[in-house]
Amino acid sequence: MSTETYGKKLPQAAKPSGFKGMVLAYLMRSVHRGEYRAVAEALRLVSDDRFLEIGCGSGFFLWKYASGTAASAGLDHSADMVAMAGRRNRRRVQSGTTELRQGDASSLPWQDGSFTAAAAVATFMFWPQPQDALKEIHRVLLPGGRLVISLGWNADDGLDHAGHVEKYGIRIYSGAELQAMLERAGFSRVSITRTKAFMSPGLMVCTAIR
Ligand SMILES: C[S@@+](CC[C@H](N)C(=O)[O-])C[C@H]1O[C@@H](n2cnc3c(N)ncnc32)[C@H](O)[C@@H]1O
Repeated sequence: MSTETYGKKLPQAAKPSGFKGMVLAYLMRSVHRGEYRAVAEALRLVSDDRFLEIGCGSGFFLWKYASGTAASAGLDHSADMVAMAGRRNRRRVQSGTTELRQGDASSLPWQDGSFTAAAAVATFMFWPQPQDALKEIHRVLLPGGRLVISLGWNADDGLDHAGHVEKYGIRIYSGAELQAMLERAGFSRVSITRTKAFMSPGLMVCTAIR
């Protein structure tokens, strides 16, 4: 089952849609549990933060780890995921502290310096214009704002990803590649940690400062 964007068929993991997409999004909450924790530890969100999650999927991370922030926002290119995230974060959406938008990571619908922290959990490898997206994230962060990107599969984890690239249409990045891209987008103090998570023997968590 696949969905369509930019006139191209995309696998469900890249753009979950319809009933199958919803089931997949529910499964992801369990599969990505360790990844969420690792990203939350790197982000260290505090109550003053204004937080943006790009590729927010079902909105589980926003709900579990960003419900105590002053403001939060989520963006996903799947309308069904935006709707699901809205249901999960209903109270904060109703009170105006959480905003959810449909759109592509390469064109963020927020003004310069809108956020103090941002994250991309298990999504960066799907983005068709990753360098443009990093530039956009840099633009919407305040100076000193932090960005955390997690890559469950990456070029440093010792796995053969040929089948994954073929099946999911993902790109596999090394830590050095991601660091160079972040620096090109204007980020500094890039640091990378590696840990184990479900289905990810070398989960990479990359932190950068705007
Ligand atoms: C594997 S899911 C992960 C979802 C969520 N971050 C999580 O861990 O539960 C990838 C998500 O990224 C979204 N996505 C992929 N490419 C995107 C893009 N270019 N712009 C915005 N969202 C994107 C998909 O729609 C999907 O919801």
